[in-house]
Amino acid sequence: MGVLLLELLLFIGCSPAADGDTGDTDTQTDTDDTDDTDGIDTDVITDTDTDTDTDTDTTVPPDGAALYTDTCAVCHGADGTGADGNPDITGEMDRDDAELLDIILNGKSDMPPQDVTEPEAQAIIDWMRATF
Ligand code: HEC
Repeated sequence: MGVLLLELLLFIGCSPAADGDTGDTDTQTDTDDTDDTDGIDTDVITDTDTDTDTDTDTTVPPDGAALYTDTCAVCHGADGTGADGNPDITGEMDRDDAELLDIILNGKSDMPPQDVTEPEAQAIIDWMRATF
Protein backbone atom coordinates (compact mmCIF):
# COMPACT_ATOMS: atom_id res chain seq x y z
CA MET A 1 0.00 0.00 0.00
CA GLY A 2 2.79 2.43 0.94
CA VAL A 3 4.96 1.47 -2.04
CA LEU A 4 2.08 1.88 -4.44
CA LEU A 5 1.38 5.37 -3.13
CA LEU A 6 5.08 6.33 -3.44
CA GLU A 7 5.28 5.10 -7.06
CA LEU A 8 2.13 6.98 -7.84
CA LEU A 9 3.52 10.18 -6.36
CA LEU A 10 6.87 9.74 -8.17
CA PHE A 11 5.11 9.11 -11.48
CA ILE A 12 2.87 12.10 -11.08
CA GLY A 13 5.77 14.20 -9.85
CA CYS A 14 8.22 13.24 -12.62
CA SER A 15 6.35 13.01 -15.85
CA PRO A 16 4.93 16.50 -16.22
CA ALA A 17 7.98 18.20 -14.68
CA ALA A 18 10.68 16.27 -16.61
CA ASP A 19 10.52 18.23 -19.88
CA GLY A 20 10.44 21.61 -18.21
CA ASP A 21 13.32 20.77 -15.85
CA THR A 22 15.61 19.74 -18.71
CA GLY A 23 15.12 23.05 -20.49
CA ASP A 24 15.60 25.04 -17.29
CA THR A 25 18.79 23.18 -16.34
CA ASP A 26 20.52 23.97 -19.64
CA THR A 27 19.76 27.66 -19.33
CA GLN A 28 20.88 27.83 -15.70
CA THR A 29 24.18 26.08 -16.43
CA ASP A 30 25.16 28.78 -18.93
CA THR A 31 24.22 31.54 -16.50
CA ASP A 32 26.20 29.90 -13.68
CA ASP A 33 29.35 29.70 -15.83
CA THR A 34 29.16 33.42 -16.60
CA ASP A 35 28.62 34.23 -12.91
CA ASP A 36 31.60 32.09 -11.86
CA THR A 37 33.93 33.88 -14.29
CA ASP A 38 32.76 37.27 -13.01
CA GLY A 39 33.26 36.09 -9.44
CA ILE A 40 36.95 35.28 -10.04
CA ASP A 41 37.59 38.69 -11.68
CA THR A 42 35.96 40.53 -8.78
CA ASP A 43 38.08 38.64 -6.23
CA VAL A 44 41.32 39.67 -7.96
CA ILE A 45 40.27 43.36 -8.07
CA THR A 46 39.29 43.27 -4.37
CA ASP A 47 42.75 41.95 -3.41
CA THR A 48 44.44 44.79 -5.32
CA ASP A 49 42.28 47.40 -3.54
CA THR A 50 43.17 45.95 -0.14
CA ASP A 51 46.90 46.19 -0.93
CA THR A 52 46.56 49.83 -2.01
CA ASP A 53 44.70 50.74 1.21
CA THR A 54 47.39 49.12 3.33
CA ASP A 55 50.14 51.02 1.51
CA THR A 56 48.33 54.33 2.03
CA ASP A 57 47.98 53.69 5.77
CA THR A 58 51.65 52.80 6.09
CA THR A 59 52.88 56.14 4.65
CA VAL A 60 51.22 58.21 7.42
CA PRO A 61 54.31 58.91 9.67
CA PRO A 62 55.81 62.33 8.74
CA ASP A 63 59.15 62.38 6.87
CA GLY A 64 61.45 64.51 9.04
CA ALA A 65 64.15 64.87 6.39
CA ALA A 66 61.73 66.12 3.72
CA LEU A 67 60.01 68.46 6.20
CA TYR A 68 63.36 69.95 7.31
CA THR A 69 64.35 70.49 3.66
CA ASP A 70 61.00 72.14 2.83
CA THR A 71 60.58 74.17 6.03
CA CYS A 72 63.93 74.91 7.70
CA ALA A 73 66.76 74.53 5.16
CA VAL A 74 66.04 77.92 3.54
CA CYS A 75 67.20 79.64 6.76
CA HIS A 76 69.38 77.09 8.53
CA GLY A 77 70.95 75.36 5.50
CA ALA A 78 70.61 71.73 4.41
CA ASP A 79 73.11 70.66 7.10
CA GLY A 80 71.87 73.02 9.86
CA THR A 81 74.97 75.26 9.80
CA GLY A 82 72.97 78.35 8.85
CA ALA A 83 72.24 80.35 5.70
CA ASP A 84 71.62 84.01 4.76
CA GLY A 85 72.64 85.33 8.16
CA ASN A 86 70.45 82.84 10.07
CA PRO A 87 72.17 80.92 12.86
CA ASP A 88 73.92 77.54 12.90
CA ILE A 89 71.60 75.26 14.90
CA THR A 90 73.77 72.13 14.94
CA GLY A 91 74.87 73.07 18.49
CA GLU A 92 71.25 73.37 19.70
CA MET A 93 70.47 69.64 19.76
CA ASP A 94 71.31 69.26 23.45
CA ARG A 95 68.01 71.04 24.21
CA ASP A 96 65.10 68.79 25.14
CA ASP A 97 62.24 67.99 22.74
CA ALA A 98 59.74 70.30 24.48
CA GLU A 99 62.02 73.31 24.05
CA LEU A 100 62.73 72.56 20.37
CA LEU A 101 59.01 71.92 19.72
CA ASP A 102 58.22 75.32 21.28
CA ILE A 103 60.80 77.08 19.05
CA ILE A 104 59.47 75.39 15.87
CA LEU A 105 55.74 75.80 16.60
CA ASN A 106 55.84 79.25 18.23
CA GLY A 107 59.02 80.80 16.83
CA LYS A 108 61.68 82.66 18.80
CA SER A 109 62.60 86.35 18.40
CA ASP A 110 63.67 86.65 14.71
CA MET A 111 62.49 83.13 13.84
CA PRO A 112 58.80 83.05 12.81
CA PRO A 113 56.50 80.19 13.90
CA GLN A 114 56.74 77.34 11.39
CA ASP A 115 53.65 76.01 9.60
CA VAL A 116 53.97 72.36 10.69
CA THR A 117 51.91 70.13 12.98
CA GLU A 118 53.31 68.93 16.31
CA PRO A 119 53.96 65.37 14.97
CA GLU A 120 55.73 66.92 11.96
CA ALA A 121 57.85 69.13 14.25
CA GLN A 122 58.74 66.04 16.33
CA ALA A 123 59.75 64.18 13.13
CA ILE A 124 62.02 67.14 12.20
CA ILE A 125 63.60 67.07 15.69
CA ASP A 126 64.20 63.31 15.47
CA TRP A 127 65.80 63.77 12.05
CA MET A 128 68.01 66.69 13.23
CA ARG A 129 69.21 64.72 16.29
CA ALA A 130 70.14 61.79 14.05
CA THR A 131 71.80 63.99 11.40
CA PHE A 132 73.50 67.08 12.95
C1 HEC B 1 62.59 82.42 8.17
C2 HEC B 1 63.86 81.84 8.58
C3 HEC B 1 63.77 80.66 9.52
C4 HEC B 1 63.13 79.48 9.31
C5 HEC B 1 62.28 79.07 8.12
C6 HEC B 1 63.45 78.64 10.44
N1 HEC B 1 64.24 79.31 11.32
FE1 HEC B 1 65.01 78.59 13.04
N2 HEC B 1 65.84 80.38 13.43
C7 HEC B 1 65.77 81.49 12.63
C8 HEC B 1 66.40 82.60 13.30
C9 HEC B 1 66.55 84.00 12.74
C10 HEC B 1 66.85 82.11 14.54
C11 HEC B 1 67.53 82.87 15.64
C12 HEC B 1 66.44 83.25 16.64
C13 HEC B 1 67.00 84.08 17.76
O1 HEC B 1 67.24 85.28 17.51
O2 HEC B 1 67.20 83.55 18.87
C14 HEC B 1 66.49 80.69 14.58
C15 HEC B 1 66.77 79.88 15.62
C16 HEC B 1 66.53 78.51 15.65
C17 HEC B 1 66.95 77.62 16.69
C18 HEC B 1 67.78 77.98 17.88
C19 HEC B 1 66.99 78.78 18.87
C20 HEC B 1 67.89 79.40 19.87
O3 HEC B 1 67.45 79.52 21.02
O4 HEC B 1 69.03 79.79 19.55
C21 HEC B 1 66.50 76.39 16.38
C22 HEC B 1 66.68 75.08 17.15
C23 HEC B 1 65.79 76.51 15.13
N3 HEC B 1 65.82 77.81 14.70
C24 HEC B 1 65.19 75.47 14.46
C25 HEC B 1 64.45 75.63 13.32
C26 HEC B 1 63.75 74.54 12.69
C27 HEC B 1 63.77 73.10 13.16
C28 HEC B 1 63.12 75.07 11.62
C29 HEC B 1 62.18 74.35 10.66
C30 HEC B 1 61.04 73.71 11.27
C31 HEC B 1 63.44 76.47 11.55
N4 HEC B 1 64.24 76.76 12.61
C32 HEC B 1 63.01 77.33 10.56
C33 HEC B 1 65.19 81.57 11.39
C34 HEC B 1 64.45 80.56 10.80
